[in-house]
Amino acid sequence: MLLYKNVKDLQAHLEKLREEGKTIGFVPTMGALHEGHLSLINKAKEINDCTVCCIFVNPTQFNEASDLTKYPRTPGKDVDLLAGVGCEVIFMPPVEEVYPKGENFDVSFDFEGLDMPMEGANRPGHFAGVAQIVHRLLDIVQPDHIYMGQKDFQQYSIIRRMLALMNSKTKIVMCDIVREADGLAKSSRNVRLTAEHRAIAPKIQEILQAAKSKIHSHFPQQIEEEAMAQLRAIEGFKPEYFTIAHGRTLRPFEVFEDVDFAVACTAVWAGKVRLIDNVILKREDFE
Ligand code: PAJ
Repeated sequence: MLLYKNVKDLQAHLEKLREEGKTIGFVPTMGALHEGHLSLINKAKEINDCTVCCIFVNPTQFNEASDLTKYPRTPGKDVDLLAGVGCEVIFMPPVEEVYPKGENFDVSFDFEGLDMPMEGANRPGHFAGVAQIVHRLLDIVQPDHIYMGQKDFQQYSIIRRMLALMNSKTKIVMCDIVREADGLAKSSRNVRLTAEHRAIAPKIQEILQAAKSKIHSHFPQQIEEEAMAQLRAIEGFKPEYFTIAHGRTLRPFEVFEDVDFAVACTAVWAGKVRLIDNVILKREDFE
């Protein structure tokens, strides 16, 4: 396993691989790795000759400074975990390597509203920061495939659209959500939950599953309202949103029969920790 901290050395290595006709899979992360991240590495290793994992806590996507300082950082453990799954290359750059002073890395894409609802409405500037860093990292790594988790469904949708707008050769692969045994989606933030909030956290997934079971008998709006009421009724939870949207456009719709791809996404504060999760309610003919 090779570990690079600067762009030039990483690019020299990747250029050599490309000349040899090798394919590159890319997994961007912010570290504090868990089995969810490792599942992306494993997926990348299935079809790529070389898997590159980037660990970089991107300051431009944090809308709250305190969230950035509190973000867990476990670089030593991350390197061990990546070695354990056979990741070939780690890119762990300092901020000045990713955003050299005096250079402008702003990007501006028309996401056709994908960045407006849900996380976009509740975390101003977040997706501009995500698009900026993923664009910058794609420019550096130039992978054949990029792997992103369904856990961040809206983020995946936006990056998918960005790649299309860029006419990029990079193909995006969405990976399933990895969960704890009790259903809680694995997240770097879970370690910050108190025992009390950790105990109720699996209810988020239960309510998402309950929503899925209602799609043949309810309208989307009814399901949203019932789910919000259920979440609010749980002491220790403060739901921000529970939204049912079209899986491609992320727009609301009236009846399930009208759409071939539907998703329910939610963000819930469990004490001081903001948890997100989602479930695909319906998907037909979707690659
Ligand atoms: P991070 O939160 O570290 O997540 C990195 C990748 O791991 C994302 O694609 C995310 O969806 C995926 N992931 C996280 N938890 C998962 C789980 N339980 N199951 C499956 N996949 C999971 O998302 C980011 O970092 C950043 O925004 C980033 C894209 C790296 C840009 O800075």
